[in-house]
Amino acid sequence: MRAVPGKIVVASHNEGKVREIRDLLGPLGCEIVSAAELDLPEPEENGETFEENAKIKALAAATASGIPSLSDDSGLCVDALDGKPGIHSARWAGPEKDFALAMRNVEEAMQAAGATDDDKRGARFVAVLCLAWPDGHTELFRGEIEGVMVWPPRGTKGFGYDPVFLPEGHARTFGEMDAAEKHGWKRGEAHALSHRARAFKLMVETGIGDD
Ligand code: IMP
Repeated sequence: MRAVPGKIVVASHNEGKVREIRDLLGPLGCEIVSAAELDLPEPEENGETFEENAKIKALAAATASGIPSLSDDSGLCVDALDGKPGIHSARWAGPEKDFALAMRNVEEAMQAAGATDDDKRGARFVAVLCLAWPDGHTELFRGEIEGVMVWPPRGTKGFGYDPVFLPEGHARTFGEMDAAEKHGWKRGEAHALSHRARAFKLMVETGIGDD
């Protein structure tokens, strides 16, 4: 059985994501280096699923650095858009990574699909974590959170699509929550709320498998 590595490269160049991963890895006592700090190139994400893309990113960072690596492939899946933007969530923000534009694009697509009432505005965030070792071993963990798309955007915290996502059973969007509330930690460290925190919880609870 492999242990969670003591030193990990976080295989992401997305600042918001790296910040959350650092928070979530903190309690595990890992030493964290980011792909940007090691100047690792960003591989092309040409997989067709979150799992495939998470593996591509983690294996690229682990083999380039010689250190175990953790990646996160995530996105927003909107029911009325048949799961889009999904694995292409970052692309909908364009080359400038403009998420005000991405949120507007999603809202316009939802309006065009007739998703005006709350019961037609369901969505989920998905995060797949991949731990990869330089020898090619990988482990995958998936977390999801259901919610409703709101318009106009609410809140300036978080990143990406946070201001338009209202998690089920909550009155504040992810954009209105501070990091601890989005992780679920306001209700105790064992309570995971966000898709990312749920994937971490699974990683910690199920442990890391055999070779
Ligand atoms: P990728 O996994 O780097 O391909 O990009 C995932 C994209 O999904 C991010 O750029 C965000 O737009 C979106 N996303 C993933 N997780 C979150 C989240 O926790 N909040 C808001 N947006 C997210």
